Amino acid sequence: MMRACRREPAPYTPIWLMRQAGRYMPEYRKVRAQHDFLEMCRRPDVACEVTVTAVERLNVDAAIIFADILLPLLPMQVGLRYAKEGGPTIERPIRTDADVDRIAPIDAAGALGFVGDAIRMARRALNGRTPLIGFAGAPFTLASYLIEGGASRNYQATKTMMYAAPERWHRLMTTLARITAEYLKLQIAAGADIVQLFDSWVGTLAPEDYRRFVMPHSAAAIAALDRRVPVIHFGTGTATLLELMREAGGDIIGLDWRVDLAQAWSRLGDRVGVQGNLDPVALFADVGEIRRRARAILDRAAGRTGHIFNLGHGILPETPVDHARALVDAVHEMSSAK
Ligand code: CP3
Repeated sequence: MMRACRREPAPYTPIWLMRQAGRYMPEYRKVRAQHDFLEMCRRPDVACEVTVTAVERLNVDAAIIFADILLPLLPMQVGLRYAKEGGPTIERPIRTDADVDRIAPIDAAGALGFVGDAIRMARRALNGRTPLIGFAGAPFTLASYLIEGGASRNYQATKTMMYAAPERWHRLMTTLARITAEYLKLQIAAGADIVQLFDSWVGTLAPEDYRRFVMPHSAAAIAALDRRVPVIHFGTGTATLLELMREAGGDIIGLDWRVDLAQAWSRLGDRVGVQGNLDPVALFADVGEIRRRARAILDRAAGRTGHIFNLGHGILPETPVDHARALVDAVHEMSSAK
């Protein structure tokens, strides 16, 4: 995994799965039945346990610390709730200049020491066998939750701020870029070997709007980090944004399944690696079809250094665990046979 992050030759293609510690896994559901989600994040022993269990059950090549991209919103007092259904919600969204002023001075990383504790504990438990990924939301994706108050289809309030109140937008994004950088620095200081920046919803933007309203802020967050720690820069629906995302920064660009890996990588060039890009729904097919699709993606990567296998987005809650494990085994076997 570390070799792939540095685009060095590796004995096989490393694989991990976005959201690998989650509800599809019976071991996770058992722990989750005893704690609510935020309590799991706040308890380093529990976060460590589910992080490590996922690695052991799947035999993946990276652990990702159990946490959430929205945790830095907790000290903002916006009323963040993790609802049982329908994803996270924010009771008091950020819309006005006064809202933006209120969150500007917040020391979010200062309130998130428990994530650093979980990373130190997980790193000890992993004992150098498997690198540990830290992560944060990119400024745009965080802004979309803060402004919309939850998940969104059209990003109407977010884009309205961007288009109609660009100064307010840039002030909010400057704050979020600082918070993202501080949150990632905290994780790096605690021992994260790699960090992933999740810009999950940025694919809703036209390239010119990405360039003007998002790129400088994602770039600032990435530029603030220790260059020795590889950065994976991920988004979905980004077929038209890939070159701009690369320009914003990152050693590895995360791709979803909507793009052809070989075409995307030839556009991105040799200076970055790529991560991806199996459709998470492919894990519902039989194991023969999963293996065929894994083979097709490995063929598209063609043994180029710097490929990290992953799903194009998070694993879905109904996914059969055995199919996820079969994918990991298939990627290891097929890529080392070369
Ligand atoms: O990958 C891992 O195993 C590490 C943990 C992890 C979580 N969230 C735990 C979680 C990671 C990497 C995330 C990232 C995250 N969180 C993203 C970016 C990735 C993506 O999918 O685009 C986003 C957009 C969020 C925000 C978020 N948190 C959503 C949309 C949800 C609800 C969806 C869902 O799966 O329930 C959450 C809650 C959440 N974060 C859960 C987990 C395991 C489910 C909580 C539960 O058990 O009820």
